[in-house]
Amino acid sequence: MITSVKEILENAKEGGYAVGAFNTVNMEVTQAIVEAAEELRAPVIIQASEKTLEYAGGRNIFHMIKNIAEFYAPEIPIGIHLDHGHSFEIVQRVISNGFTSVMYDGSRKKFEDNLEVTKKVVEFCRDKGVDVQAELGNVPYLSEQKMGEVNWDKYMTDPEQAKYFVEETGIDALAVAIGNAHDFFKERAVPDWERLSKIRELIDIPIIIHGASDWGEDKAPEAVKRGASCFNVDTNTRLAFVNTLSTIFRGDEDPGFDVRDILGKARQAVQESVKEKIRLFGGEGQV
Ligand code: G3H
Ligand code: 13P
Ligand code: ZN
Repeated sequence: MITSVKEILENAKEGGYAVGAFNTVNMEVTQAIVEAAEELRAPVIIQASEKTLEYAGGRNIFHMIKNIAEFYAPEIPIGIHLDHGHSFEIVQRVISNGFTSVMYDGSRKKFEDNLEVTKKVVEFCRDKGVDVQAELGNVPYLSEQKMGEVNWDKYMTDPEQAKYFVEETGIDALAVAIGNAHDFFKERAVPDWERLSKIRELIDIPIIIHGASDWGEDKAPEAVKRGASCFNVDTNTRLAFVNTLSTIFRGDEDPGFDVRDILGKARQAVQESVKEKIRLFGGEGQV
């Protein structure tokens, strides 16, 4: 059942659990996410990045997600979302493709510029019933840096600034930086929990944690306790898919050439990886 992302996130916030927002790139990954959600009776968000829109086509990927969700999980709330839209123009484009939830990511811009474009995006989306997520502070892609010591302070979300940003822009959800990072690379050993609690105290909208692929039992439940309502996962899914293919092709057995057998195994591995994340975040049985 296609459901608004805002409703899914507000329900998680009220219910004291978190949902997974899983990136998809193709039919197999989408089916795996939907089947995992159906099996565990868990609301989920399925999202596509700009690169995926280019790869698969915006209208195509939107309708593929919608069809698969409606067909395989008619009773499960599933939201469809643009992940990390980096310009006002991409937001306009995906809305014309059917998307009703977008992230405008101005987190690498100066605060004033992020604020200005986010405001413009919200104004554009408001009367169209489109939900908007923004990011303040910056959840880095540490693979882009050559590892070494990371100065986490420069990435962190400032709680007071977050309060001002949310009030000024009227966004529906906020992605925060508390020591989380994209990809499977160096994260801050212990997230800045006090910072998360402070942000939760000062703003009233759902809080999103990006870069949750490598967040396990030691971090995710604590973040939920402190008020996070959603975790973004992409790397973990990709690795489940690609590692399965790699095992098939590097094994002693001839894999043959039935694409369905081969991709079917990758799909199954993704489904298991998504189920593990849903359980970790507390989404199981919330439908
Ligand atoms: O957080 C970003 C996602 O992992 C998207 O990555 O731009 O390679 O699709 P991508
Ligand atoms: P990971 O790279 O940890 O999977 O993060 C994904 C993400 O934040 C998508 O927006
Ligand atoms: Zn992200």
